[in-house]
Amino acid sequence: MTSGVPQALDQLYHRHLTLTEHTDWAYHRLLPWDRGRDFGQAPWEPGQGTLPPDVALAVETAMLTEVNLPWFTAGLVRLMHNAPDALRQFVHTWTAEEDRHARVLETYLVLSRNGDPDARCRLVHGVVREGWVVPGDSPFAVMVYTTLQELATRVFYLNLAQVAREADPVLDRILKTIAKDETLHFAFYRGAVGAYLDDDPEKIGTVCDIVPLFTMPGAGMPDFGHRMRSASDHGGYGLPEFLRQVIRPLLRDWGLFDHQVSSAVEARRQALAEYLVRLERAAGRVEARRLSRAERI
Ligand SMILES: [Fe+2]
Ligand SMILES: [Fe+2]
Repeated sequence: MTSGVPQALDQLYHRHLTLTEHTDWAYHRLLPWDRGRDFGQAPWEPGQGTLPPDVALAVETAMLTEVNLPWFTAGLVRLMHNAPDALRQFVHTWTAEEDRHARVLETYLVLSRNGDPDARCRLVHGVVREGWVVPGDSPFAVMVYTTLQELATRVFYLNLAQVAREADPVLDRILKTIAKDETLHFAFYRGAVGAYLDDDPEKIGTVCDIVPLFTMPGAGMPDFGHRMRSASDHGGYGLPEFLRQVIRPLLRDWGLFDHQVSSAVEARRQALAEYLVRLERAAGRVEARRLSRAERI
């Protein structure tokens, strides 16, 4: 590799380490331990949950999107084995930070008795067993995907926190704390992808190919469609947010439609533009549905 990419990656990684020194958190300080009760003496029953059911479902869905971390790490390590040092080190640091997310969310749900803990154990088992297939065949492709994933989870947590705030300020704090981690992960990957694009604008073709493939992690979990619809209708995160708070700002940041590219890459960029038009129409339909539901209430 010629170019300033390795140096840019080093700078991004050191910036990440400096920032996380100030944002580091310990999950035992966030959790409402005083709400915990022995399940042997007081078995779980429906109706014990403290959250509106749609909010509880969204928190559980968030937890299930995090729980496949062992497979995320395995896939990334395998794909990045020849990548620059800073990228390989970042995957280790990232894993240590992500490791707390599913744990804090699942423990919160158990302590607050939101959802059947036995059913959830079976669900987690199934999702982790399912594993995860790396979306892309190069470190760059997977970084594009991961940038989208980090930003999508950031927006999901922040929007859900807004919805959950009234029901439980403890949950609000947990979600915002996780969102800070996601923000820093997103910033690293966005910067890394940006450095590669500055070095070689032809890589825009890969971005154009990857964006339409994106799905939230955990798409293989049972009733994923129902969970996503519920999050869209009641959790503050759906297609309109994905388009307006994730994809559009990210493509703008990367200057995706600004760089000069070859005609072959231009054709892929055109295909992405057409995909965005279809997404815009679909997001408009979701917004119209939300509006008509709000008017009925
Ligand atoms: Fe996470
Ligand atoms: Fe993250």
